[in-house]
Amino acid sequence: MIKLSPSILSADFANLARDVKTAVDAGAEYVHVDVMDGHFVPNITIGAPVVKALRKATDSVLDVHLMISDPDKYLDDFIAAGSDIITVHYESNGDTLGQLKKIKAAGIKASCTIKPGTPADVLLPLLPYCDMVLIMTVEPGFGGQGFIPECMDKIRLVRKAIQENGYQCELEIDGGAKLTNVVDIVAAGADVIVAGSAVFGGDIAGNVKAFHEKFEEGAAKADWTK
Ligand code: DX5
Ligand code: ZN
Repeated sequence: MIKLSPSILSADFANLARDVKTAVDAGAEYVHVDVMDGHFVPNITIGAPVVKALRKATDSVLDVHLMISDPDKYLDDFIAAGSDIITVHYESNGDTLGQLKKIKAAGIKASCTIKPGTPADVLLPLLPYCDMVLIMTVEPGFGGQGFIPECMDKIRLVRKAIQENGYQCELEIDGGAKLTNVVDIVAAGADVIVAGSAVFGGDIAGNVKAFHEKFEEGAAKADWTK
């Protein structure tokens, strides 16, 4: 099953609970929370208190993407706040494998990710420890950017590794997903799609439904779903 993880970065922050409820009621499987520290990326967004507030507002899966320099300093806060999935960047400080193990030990799904400039090979030894892996398809920092086509090969490479080894690991992509390119993205191997501007810009419920229709098309085109 292909899942949608709407990024709240493009939601109305003054009506966050309302926008999240609209997306979840329309069928969004996850809720993607983009945490940025103004250091690892040039933008500052939200932190653990917002995850804690969202935890009270929804039973949905909180898919927390940490774009921060020092995960070791803040993992405890995001675990305590009620995250369901925590993604750490390979390029962040500290030992990525140790961070994944810490997240898993807390009973939370562990995931790691790479920026577009980092080769996908670095993820391969980490896959056995990941419940999810995230391929960034834009430079992290801002919503509304264009999908980087060169990232398609990374999606194929990681999907192949997951299938060949029988890993229980979801493959998420993040950045620039639109109704116009998501069929190809799914066909290449992604099974969790983050979409911010394409979900929260305009009719949220209609966009969620339209994405799910495209997912079926993509899954039918894919050989890895057979
Ligand atoms: C970028 C964030 C993304 C972003 C996606 O740093 O990690 O989650 O919000 O937004 P769109 O779908 O608009 O590219
Ligand atoms: Zn993200």
